[in-house]
Amino acid sequence: MKENINAIEIKNLYVSLNGNLVLRDINLDIVKGDFLGIIGPNGGGKSTLLKTILGLIKPDYGSIKIWGHKNINKGRAYIGYVPQYAQFDRDFPISVEEVVILGRLGKRKQLRYSKADQMRLDEALEKVEINNLRKRQIGELSGGERQRVLVARALVANPKILLLDEPTASTDSKFSADFYELLNFLNQEITIVLVSHDISAISKYVKSIACLNVDLFQQGGTEITPELINELYNCPMDLIVHGDNHRILKPHNGVVNYVRNIKL
Ligand SMILES: Nc1ncnc2c1ncn2[C@@H]1O[C@H](COP(=O)(O)OP(=O)(O)OP(=O)(O)O)[C@@H](O)[C@H]1O
Ligand SMILES: [Mg+2]
Repeated sequence: MKENINAIEIKNLYVSLNGNLVLRDINLDIVKGDFLGIIGPNGGGKSTLLKTILGLIKPDYGSIKIWGHKNINKGRAYIGYVPQYAQFDRDFPISVEEVVILGRLGKRKQLRYSKADQMRLDEALEKVEINNLRKRQIGELSGGERQRVLVARALVANPKILLLDEPTASTDSKFSADFYELLNFLNQEITIVLVSHDISAISKYVKSIACLNVDLFQQGGTEITPELINELYNCPMDLIVHGDNHRILKPHNGVVNYVRNIKL
């Protein structure tokens, strides 16, 4: 397989839910090693886009390639997913390590967990710094700690791409900052797609930004200001600029569809 393939390639993607068009003609190339932040208003289609990438929602039209694979069953093996709403029954007796190792399910060849599974479990707990919580019951954890458990669960399968849907929605700003540091660290090895309303926080870490409100923000060669995004796409943004506030759209593989390499 060619080495210069993109992590994810989306072409002319249309998705309807209950007869309503939710995603319209989405074209998006995500390069390997990217840290893409997707912002947009409630109901703009962000979660739908992630679920469609995962093959949980079938598009009306268009194609998605993951690490060069058109076949979703092959492509999905490259992805770790942290969903927007993960409900745990607080009384359900399951420990942190039991939840995390569930992420190996798709990788197992036998019923029992192998030594390799255990090793990946240890690594994942170490990476997200929750080794000390491994024996705790999931229901006892704080919201922020639970988010790390979910990231660990996504990491045990050794993904090349991590999709995260609003992972810091229920965490305070200190916890969120630590969490973004963690993502930044993981981004050394893993391509990250992060959906969040919190553009001020993610702006410090992401390498590129897309704005989604049925259409994916696409405006070639123009400087993007928060006002412009607000006006055109009704994206609620509270932008704290770190350093240089110029956000320039650059063409990428001939497709001008999101802001790349922003200097913040
Ligand atoms: N299973 C479903 N059946 C029908 N409509 C749905 C379904 N899931 C989502 N929708 C609709 O699709 C649109 C996009 O929803 P989606 O959850 O993708 O938005 P979002 O950008 O993730 O919003 P938020 O920021 O609130 O999480 C919304 O209008 C929503 O009501
Ligand atoms: Mg959502």
